[in-house]
Amino acid sequence: MTPKFAVFGQPIAHSKSPYIHQAFAAQRSQSLAYERIGPEENEFEDAVRTFFAEGGKGANVTLPFKERAYAMCEVRTERAEQAQAVNTLWMEKGILHGDNTDGAGLLADMIRNLNWKLINKRILVVGAGGAVRGVLGCLLTAGAEEVVITNRTYERAQGLAEQFSLRAVALEDLHQEAPFHIIINGTSASLAGEGLALPSSLLAENACCYDMMYGEETPFMQWAQRHGAQVSDGLGMLVQQAAESFYRWHNWRPATMAVLQSMRQQV
Ligand code: ATR
Repeated sequence: MTPKFAVFGQPIAHSKSPYIHQAFAAQRSQSLAYERIGPEENEFEDAVRTFFAEGGKGANVTLPFKERAYAMCEVRTERAEQAQAVNTLWMEKGILHGDNTDGAGLLADMIRNLNWKLINKRILVVGAGGAVRGVLGCLLTAGAEEVVITNRTYERAQGLAEQFSLRAVALEDLHQEAPFHIIINGTSASLAGEGLALPSSLLAENACCYDMMYGEETPFMQWAQRHGAQVSDGLGMLVQQAAESFYRWHNWRPATMAVLQSMRQQV
């Protein structure tokens, strides 16, 4: 029987996960079904239970359900515990397991695809919502000299700073900071077409700026480019987090570069 996979989210119509997982499976002539499921707000848990009861092998979870997926799992990986959110589900001996591959996806994209150097570098993370909490644990394993967090609402940055033993800086105090080699935009400002109004003094020479959003060039990316920084959107992170999920389910690591390149052409 063709193994069944799915991605849960709302809205979900534009999810690229089916395309990515089918492309990975094609690399080893494997056939699998991968569907999009968009349950109503109050039906997520039931939809997940039904999916696995009907033989589903694995599921991805995206907004707004990652925290609820986390709450459903009986067994979670350490990185899922840190993120308090789960984007990868599977069943083992009738027990629901959860992982979070977002942080590993971000690191793999920056280090392997983009060839950015993180070791001994200063990294600034902007934002303090679920997207940032999902990746901070992994980011802290990258050997940076320091990871600093800032956010429009300073208290939220402080909360994450305490949880992850980092330093939080208020937006209005950023001009006092030494320059950063890497700046990561984990806010949803780009979704609304808004920039971040960061002082350009934050950019070290040859700085690299990453927007976790993808789809089009964001105001944050345009700001970074104007000041001579290297930039990337988050499309590579999307492909790399999918590769981590694929590995978790199939115990086999797909090649990601060709998939990423074909998606770039489509975008
Ligand atoms: P997610 O789970 O996608 O991270 P979230 O929890 O709503 O969503 O968090 C959104 C993040 O983007 C927050 O850090 C938010 O800042 P606040 O905590 O001050 O709300 C940030 N954000 C959203 N719009 C922004 C904007 N226009 N400028 C700066 N930060 C913005």
